[in-house]
Formats: sequence, structure tokens, C-alpha cells
Amino acid sequence: PPTAAPFVPKTRSIDALRRAARGCRGCALYRNATQTVFGEGASHARVLLVGEQPGNDEDLEGRPFVGSAGRVLDEGLAAAGIDRAATYVTNVVKHFKWEPSGKRRMHSKPNLREIDACFPWLEREIALLRPHLIVCLGATAAQALLGRDFRVTRQRGQLVASPLAPHVVATIHPSAILRQRSHEDRQREMDAFIADLRIAAGLIA
Ligand code: URA
Repeated sequence: PPTAAPFVPKTRSIDALRRAARGCRGCALYRNATQTVFGEGASHARVLLVGEQPGNDEDLEGRPFVGSAGRVLDEGLAAAGIDRAATYVTNVVKHFKWEPSGKRRMHSKPNLREIDACFPWLEREIALLRPHLIVCLGATAAQALLGRDFRVTRQRGQLVASPLAPHVVATIHPSAILRQRSHEDRQREMDAFIADLRIAAGLIA
């Protein structure tokens, strides 16, 4: 199966890890992506936020959560009193996967093989960062880190026992808020997202 493992250096530096990730050819996703979008943030961050994979804007800019989902994330973090600059933000999959749709590049969900292939990067990020709290944003992150049986809809906002960090909590993906059709539905989902992030904030206070 495809794997990033041979590309992951045995370094103790996240910057060195990020540099190495630029050349990852561990699965086929690098071919259609502009660049690797590695995690970024405070190297001594106590909070690690994990999304799914970069979108179109992130692919072009080379940084995680800088597009519309990132704006929702920023709004949620601010409302919960979490300073994004003090966190480290990354994704389970480090390359943008997309399909052409007219002139647009439509986000397409990473499959299990791609998630497994990329996992050695996230594993090393966690090992080097040793965060106090991990927040899984959406089912892809939650299932990659907590197991395939994890259900965000049922277990969101709850503390999950895990060897990965003293505290692990999952919530929905910010994109799920953007997908709501009515203003009311968006507001309701945003409020629930903020409530989950406040629980997370309480764990680091
Ligand atoms: N969605 C994600 O999961 N990650 C990003 O970086 C952007 C959008």
C-alpha cells in the first residue's frame, strides 16, 4: 500500500519535518496538487487542531485553513476564547485532492488508503508537539485518530480517552457549517461548534 513512511525523517524539529514533507511522494495525491500543505503554528502549542485535508485555497497558499472553512474555524475559536496563534493547525491528509468540475477544482474526499498513507506525518507531528489537547475537526480526523467506529454525531464534545494526548475531543468540520442551506441551520450548527470548542477551551484553561 502507498505510504509516506520512507519520506518522514527521524528529526526532532517540526520545521525539518515540514521541509521534508514538501517532497513527499508517498501516495499519488502530490501529482495533482500544487504543493504540500503541512501543519503550522506554535511549536510549543498545547492545542493541536486536526482537519481533513487542504482545500483549493490552502493548496494555492500552502497553509492550512486559510479559506472559507478557515474563516469559520477562526470565528469559532475566537468565540470560544481560543487563540489560534497559540495553537498548531494541521490536516490528516497533506495534499489537496480534487476533481475537475467545469473550470473549478472540486474537493474530493480522501479514501482510506490515502489517509493511511499520509498518517506517518501526523503521527510525527503529534510525537514532536506532544499537545495537551487534540481537537479533531470532523469525522476524517476523528476516525483517523480515534478509530473507525468513532461517530462524531454521537460523541462530539465528549472527552475521549486516547494514548495520543491527555485530552482528545472531536467536533464537526467547519465545512459542515458552510454546507447548511438556511441561515437558521448555519447558526444552529455554529452555536453547537462553539459549544464544543468551549469544552475544549475549558480543558486548557
Ligand atoms: N478543510 C480542511 O479540512 N482543512 C483545511 O486546511 C481546509 C479546509
